[in-house]
Amino acid sequence: MTTAAEGAELTQTGPGTPMGCLMRLYWMPALKSSELERDGPPVRFMLLGEKLIAFRDTGGKVGVMDHRCPHRGASLFLGRNEEGGIRCLYHGWKFDTSGRCIDMPSVPAHQDFKHKVCARAYQAVERAGVVWVYMGAREAPPLPAFQILDAPDDEINVGMIQRDCNYLQAIEGEIDTAHFGYLHGGHADASRLDESEPFYFTVTNRAPEFHVADAPWGTQYAGFRSAGQGRTYWRFANFLLPFWTQAPNGEFDSHAHARGWVPIDDNNCMYVFLWWKRANSAMSLPQPAYKDGTPIGGTSRGNRLLPNTTGWMGRWRMADNAANDWGLDREAQRTNRIYSGIDGIHLQDQAITESMGSIVDHTFEHLGPSDQMITRTRRRLLRASRALREDGTLPPGIEDASLYHGARSGYFVSDDQRAWQEVYKHRLDAALHPSAVPARAAE
Ligand code: FES
Ligand SMILES: [Fe+2]
Repeated sequence: MTTAAEGAELTQTGPGTPMGCLMRLYWMPALKSSELERDGPPVRFMLLGEKLIAFRDTGGKVGVMDHRCPHRGASLFLGRNEEGGIRCLYHGWKFDTSGRCIDMPSVPAHQDFKHKVCARAYQAVERAGVVWVYMGAREAPPLPAFQILDAPDDEINVGMIQRDCNYLQAIEGEIDTAHFGYLHGGHADASRLDESEPFYFTVTNRAPEFHVADAPWGTQYAGFRSAGQGRTYWRFANFLLPFWTQAPNGEFDSHAHARGWVPIDDNNCMYVFLWWKRANSAMSLPQPAYKDGTPIGGTSRGNRLLPNTTGWMGRWRMADNAANDWGLDREAQRTNRIYSGIDGIHLQDQAITESMGSIVDHTFEHLGPSDQMITRTRRRLLRASRALREDGTLPPGIEDASLYHGARSGYFVSDDQRAWQEVYKHRLDAALHPSAVPARAAE
């Protein structure tokens, strides 16, 4: 049971809120590097409820700052990005990527005022084709040591999609594995599936059991079902502080990824998906199919996006959204061609989590035994934010970013009879060495 007060504590991320303070200790993936051209137009975006701009200067360096000019608050989004800085249109004050005022042509030089003013700039670095932003007051930690970040930048894909709900709701959609056999595969006919198809076990037994535990990076679960002949079909997944998940959407041995659910404000978040190009991925695989090769309806991987606009919420929007009921096809639903009537696995998740309202009423829910990962993750987040507030205890991953390296997700069938966390450790050790196991993706 989550009280209204706990719900507010978990979901509010703006300046000065407990969860906002916690999140500001971490690097946040914010834009694709490709969104910013040298001396090109600044991009509007938001993080943790703050309105920001990003631009790439003449030398290629990225600047991220409060969109308001520190003089009289005109928006620097309108500014001229030229010759090593952004120049405000109003009185011509100019700022470099660190926020230093480097020109103040409207004030006589002898008054020497430009050294007294700074734009509110945040640190930015680029890695894996992403601009990462640090908004904290203390020294920035290293980037999280996800296994996917072991790969060189040109081997990492990045995808972004805005989701119109609170970051926590999106995370909870990710770690709720029991929905797979319904929302995504309720119409799949198990008798027509080959056992090698990852969908097979999730639809032959739609009521998995779970193990759930705290982990060094946050929380971890293992969904498990019998795969017959003494074997178990395992699905491991993680929540990693402060807003990352690793879903079992690929074959465990060859599928490193990280999925960020970055708060734009309390009602919207940005999904940031980093995955390895050489692994088969949820983005590039064909749809799951029956033995005869017919694709299973509603499982397409493609996500139709609208063209980006310059608005605060204008980037990486899906074409199907609340305004058109996420493309819901009642005929497909009625005939059970697609259980949900919504075509696309990501879109189905998007529709469900957005349909709850941007912040679900936590006092309305009735969490059941299959929701243990959700309740444990809420407790983990609350504990971390309270420890930070009460005695300054830093949350996981700040002092030791390497702990993220122990986290991986995915599915596999195993006859290993050890305890679940031993099964995980053993499989991870094997996976971190080169493997010839082919990868398939299920979600
Ligand atoms: S408001 Fe920006 S220079 Fe005056
Ligand atoms: Fe899902």
